[in-house]
Amino acid sequence: MLDLVFLGPPGAGKGTQAKRFAERFRISHISTGDLLRKAVDCGSRLGREAKEYMDRGELAPDELVMALIEQQLEGRSAEKGAVFDGFPRTKAQAEALSELLKQHERSIDLVLFFKVDSEELTRRLSGRRVCGECGALYHIDSNPPQRGSRCDHCGGEVIQRDDDREEVVRSRLKVYDEQTAPLIDFYRSQSLLRPVDGEGTVDEIAARVVEAVSRQ
Ligand code: AP5
Repeated sequence: MLDLVFLGPPGAGKGTQAKRFAERFRISHISTGDLLRKAVDCGSRLGREAKEYMDRGELAPDELVMALIEQQLEGRSAEKGAVFDGFPRTKAQAEALSELLKQHERSIDLVLFFKVDSEELTRRLSGRRVCGECGALYHIDSNPPQRGSRCDHCGGEVIQRDDDREEVVRSRLKVYDEQTAPLIDFYRSQSLLRPVDGEGTVDEIAARVVEAVSRQ
């Protein structure tokens, strides 16, 4: 059993690395951003409520996010462990996660904190594109789709996320500093925090992640 938290600002590469790590080690990848976007796409009540916050670059309410996480931990897909990507994002969520894991006789093994310079964050977010069908990630400079705006994997349309617009990005970065960055000290005080240099190629960072986890 391995339960990891990937922490860092918007655009730090948490999703890119979480997906890779989870596939390689066959554990579950739980991204609250992806779960919320799915809820928005299917038009559920939860999705309609979350959309208002996401469009403004603000955090969705803790209760709503915790309901999604509980569902994920009830299912069998996370029984070998999970990478929590972009979650928790507030102290209340961090405390609720520890409590929930305890109920399942689990606990967080490590929190990887991805450190990336703010100019690089803006470059990554403004150039990010995603497949609207399968969620594959691209970047217009460093990893563009090979067939124009069609996804290399499924042929779906590759689009820009609504919240990657400049004014929303500014708000997301501010919300991160105010509400999520305090978790760095929170987890450091529990000796769970491992900073990871989030700059370099995707392969280089993936190797640092594996090394940090194996040192644990
Ligand atoms: P979410 O989807 O979680 O967004 P985020 O945390 O802002 O993170 P991002 O997805 O923007 O970035 P990332 O670090 O995953 O980077 P990525 O790998 O994509 O959340 C969206 C919204 O949902 C929030 O604003 C909030 O409203 C809501 N929400 C989500 N979770 C919540 C919670 N727990 N509580 C409350 N509300 C919540 O990489 C970015 C780009 O860089 C890509 O184009 C990628 O290809 C590229 N890239 C990655 N690595 C590299 C590299 N090494 N070199 C060059 N380019 C790279």
